[in-house]
Amino acid sequence: MVEIGCGIGRITRVLAARAERVIAVDVSDTMLGLAQDLSPDLANVDWVLGDGSTLAAVPDSSADGCFSFVTFQHIPDPELTFSYIREMGRVLRPGGWAAFQLSTSPTPGSRPALATRLRLAALALLRRGPRGQTHPAWVGSTVEVDDLRAAAAEAGLEIRRLVGAGTLFSLVHAVRVGPAPD
Ligand SMILES: C[S@@+](CC[C@H](N)C(=O)[O-])C[C@H]1O[C@@H](n2cnc3c(N)ncnc32)[C@H](O)[C@@H]1O
Repeated sequence: MVEIGCGIGRITRVLAARAERVIAVDVSDTMLGLAQDLSPDLANVDWVLGDGSTLAAVPDSSADGCFSFVTFQHIPDPELTFSYIREMGRVLRPGGWAAFQLSTSPTPGSRPALATRLRLAALALLRRGPRGQTHPAWVGSTVEVDDLRAAAAEAGLEIRRLVGAGTLFSLVHAVRVGPAPD
């Protein structure tokens, strides 16, 4: 299994209990360090510091499944999400599956309303609340459903189910069809 954006390993632990081996990729070495500290017992997980747009550590057609949750919604540029979708098509064996969440909301779903942003900024200034919630890496991006479908088709992924289209929590189940892409 491959997990994109594993964070501190919250879901990695669940995947590792079900898979022979998990390659858990994240762009943050801080998160990966916490993940390893929190789960030193997970012998079947490779924690991998990724480049932010590819699964370079994963060979072609080698994975049974790819999973991602609350990661693509935070990526500031949708092109990076499309790059990961292409990469899922590359690393999945024919018949392998992808299950991932992304935002197809009309507006970046992680971007709070103006009043909320002002309140958060004030709390952050006073050090009484979380900082960084207006940062592009938190606000993230949204993708058009048609572009999602096009990227999946280009990657050789057949979307079997899309739940929550038009919302922050759009859930995709897709299966790798046909030969591996060049
Ligand atoms: C909100 S956390 C979610 C972590 C985990 N999926 C979970 O549900 O607990 C988002 C994670 O995505 C990672 N991330 C953000 N951009 C990324 C990118 N371009 N490639 C890989 N990981 C990324 C962050 O470092 C962070 O660990």
